Amino acid sequence: MNKVSQHGEWTSRWSFILAATGSAVGLGNIWKFPYITGENGGGAFVLVYLICICLIGIPIMMAEIVLGRQGRQSPINTMRDLAKKAGAHRYWSLVGWLGVIAGFLILSYYSVIAGWAMAYVVRVASGMFDGATGDGVKNIFVQFISDPEKLLAWHSLFMILTMLVVARGIKGLERAVKFLMPSLFVLLLLLVGYSMSQGAFGQGVSFMFNLDFSKLSGESVLTAMGHAFFTISLGMGAIMVYGAYLPSNVSIASTTLVIVIADTLVALLAGLVIFPIVFANGLEPASGPGLIFQTLPIAFGHMGFGAFFGTLFFVLLVFAAWSSSISLIEPAVSWLVENKKISRMRACIWAGLATWFVGVGTVLSFNYMSDVTLFGRTFFDLLDFLTANIMLPLGGICIAIFAGWIISKQSSEEELGLPRGGYYEAWRFLVKYISPAAVIIVFMNVVGIL
Ligand code: TRP
Repeated sequence: MNKVSQHGEWTSRWSFILAATGSAVGLGNIWKFPYITGENGGGAFVLVYLICICLIGIPIMMAEIVLGRQGRQSPINTMRDLAKKAGAHRYWSLVGWLGVIAGFLILSYYSVIAGWAMAYVVRVASGMFDGATGDGVKNIFVQFISDPEKLLAWHSLFMILTMLVVARGIKGLERAVKFLMPSLFVLLLLLVGYSMSQGAFGQGVSFMFNLDFSKLSGESVLTAMGHAFFTISLGMGAIMVYGAYLPSNVSIASTTLVIVIADTLVALLAGLVIFPIVFANGLEPASGPGLIFQTLPIAFGHMGFGAFFGTLFFVLLVFAAWSSSISLIEPAVSWLVENKKISRMRACIWAGLATWFVGVGTVLSFNYMSDVTLFGRTFFDLLDFLTANIMLPLGGICIAIFAGWIISKQSSEEELGLPRGGYYEAWRFLVKYISPAAVIIVFMNVVGIL
């Protein structure tokens, strides 16, 4: 009954929490959340995102961990085996495949953006932003992304870093996240302090929390939902594969809550740092993927010891991205090791090279190919839309349906081990009906059926 994973196990509950939090907290919180909030008008978007986290995110994360811990393999093989055990069709393993592909596509652009963060470590440390104005900082950013060679170099370096950790297996991951996540949190608090002193704090707060539903389109709702999946690493098997390494005696529900609360706090803090700076400097909240790179350097250019804190901030951001990126490729690597009988090292080389190659498309989409668009989106926008807004929610529905309808009630009840009092029934109701229905309604709304 109690299977063990061939890839090993986390040494404790805290290792899993740190690794999963490391996966969840990343560029999604600090880079993406502020800029999509800016693009989608603020408060109402944030509210929809928070609702999605509670109604869809938390139950599906629990479902993913349940499945992972029962299957104890890569998501593809876990889904295949659990389907077989439940007498369901073997095509359920396609959910694993969808996840592997989504993770691979996400990492291809994630690495490019993480490369920007690395480049900014050097820029901030060299004092390039001392006393800089909004325009100056913007120019530096625009010049930077229009240079494909630079972006490519940083993207390549980040991919190498990612694959080095994955090649060493679980142990490497555990060690790295232990110190980095708490430090990032403390530094964010410090930056919130700076933002509070900047005069436009109230304006920033009201942008983030004032509910103006007139600014919310169907597509904004889809983006909010997609981001709920993205930010807690859901819908593609990353959490499932981490769950496969989770010791059997650990409570899934309480661990999930810790991870989700930490992730949400970091995103909200990042917003509270960034929007006051945006308003205090007359910048545009809807300035897109460059938002943090065009706002934070202003703060670092003006505060005491700014170069020091700025360097530290971008270093930690790189680490946050690093601990996320490894989870994006782990499902693919674990599958290669299980099915192709190759070493972890080789699996990493192949998976890493393929990801790197797709990433070149994203590099070029910010310069040479910035006017090559499909459905009005550049290569980067298209990848981001397809993965976060379509593939993750789709994977999420399948995981919810599988956990709610296909595997036996007894097995999920035992695996979750929730206290009495209707908790299990509530979870099951959410994954059986509410989460899938919510995702489908949002999809239909965007397509224009509703
Ligand atoms: N959650 C990470 C972030 O917010 C990104 C990430 C890591 C991810 N693993 C994932 C997103 C798996 C979706 C699926 O930056």
